[in-house]
Amino acid sequence: MDTFVIDGPVRLSGSVRVSGSKNASLPIMAAAILGPGKSTLKAVPRLSDISVCGELLGRLGCKFTREEDGRLWIDSTVIDNPVGEYEVVRRMRASICILGPLLARCGRAEVSMPGGCAIGDRPVNLHVKGLQALGARIHLKNGYIIAEAPDGLTGTDVFMGGPFGSTVLGTANVLMAATLARGRTTIESAACEPEIADLANCLNRMGAKITGIGSPRLMIEGVEQLQPVEYEVIPDRIEAGTFMVAAAITAGELRIENCRLDGMMAAVDRLRNMGVTVDAAGAGCVVSRRDPIRPADVTTQPYPGFPTDLQAQFMALLSLAEGNSVVIEKVFPDRFMHVAELNRMAANLRKEGSAVIVAGVPKLIAAPVMASDLRASAALVLAGLAAEGTTTIDRVYHIDRGYERIEERLNPLGARIARENV
Ligand code: EPZ
Repeated sequence: MDTFVIDGPVRLSGSVRVSGSKNASLPIMAAAILGPGKSTLKAVPRLSDISVCGELLGRLGCKFTREEDGRLWIDSTVIDNPVGEYEVVRRMRASICILGPLLARCGRAEVSMPGGCAIGDRPVNLHVKGLQALGARIHLKNGYIIAEAPDGLTGTDVFMGGPFGSTVLGTANVLMAATLARGRTTIESAACEPEIADLANCLNRMGAKITGIGSPRLMIEGVEQLQPVEYEVIPDRIEAGTFMVAAAITAGELRIENCRLDGMMAAVDRLRNMGVTVDAAGAGCVVSRRDPIRPADVTTQPYPGFPTDLQAQFMALLSLAEGNSVVIEKVFPDRFMHVAELNRMAANLRKEGSAVIVAGVPKLIAAPVMASDLRASAALVLAGLAAEGTTTIDRVYHIDRGYERIEERLNPLGARIARENV
């Protein structure tokens, strides 16, 4: 099991290129199920989650290969085992996004319930509601969702909002299923995340008829068949935001390439509010900080609100602000595994329900800490860059799920991160 050993404090400078989006890649890989044949995807990042998704598709009967040049191809000609096995799903909750396409393609699907994870409960009731609205018969058996639509699916109007707002992968599942349903489907309170827009654009490239892309109301005219596709996924806005915080927390200056600011306005707004400079530059931006960090309040919301996937990283940054901040988590109210670990590094964080009071401290002190989930782990790396001394982070596999060899991306910028296998 790998451990990171991080010496700080450092000041980062230089240029870094954002990889393709993990959270766009995963549903788009599932969408390949809908177009029998060989689909080729570009800019898909080299992450363990992508490998797990490839394994999942392979068990369905698909063929999956990563070319030397990074292109990834999926041959979905044959799907003879429409089952998402628990042994795979438990390693990656996003596996649930094969449910909709499998049901639409095969008329039947069995996918293990995801179960909970470090960021909290991961219910799928809205996924089930949406697919039942399209005519699927769904029941649970031995921890599996069994979905059947032997006569196909029928378009309908369905409200997909839940107590925490829209659902990203729930929208993906219903959207993908609706592309092959008879007639028109309207998804109200659809997720507006750029990753869903990317999925919809990819599906249209495959022959789907989706309008309202990027809005909370998606309309889909069902078609008979979708074709395989060649498609390049969008850049990863969460990785871009993580690099922005790396520049800010080290009082450095980074040019972040392949980063679209238009999909990151909530995070950019908070950074500017904190006294961080964010300037558009070509197909990316330059992020720097010279002045002390100003406190700021952060509340996570579905897109276009502040992304929950950047909450932990911003909390690490706010830990060093000159004053008190409040971080409120409205998407995953328990997503605070990083709080105790940051406090081990001399942060002053107090959890009050789904809010954390962040009392800024003049410096963080290095310590041995434990990674828990993907974004909490990224926050610990960022804290280690700024902390005085040597921070060690165990269970680095959490970070590898969402960031391509992050130490090989940060060390050329001035970080001092060693990956040790213990
Ligand atoms: C996606 O997860 C992302 N994962 C998550 O990123 C991200 O945090 C999340 O969206 C929110 O933006 C991928 O895209 C692979 P949700 P998803 O359904 O779709 C509740 C990362 O770090 N809900 O939008 O599973 C749910 O409990 C990962 O890259 C229901 O109540 O999240 C949560 O409170 C972590 N019923 C809220 O909705 C449902 O049926 C949003 O969850 C589904 C969800």
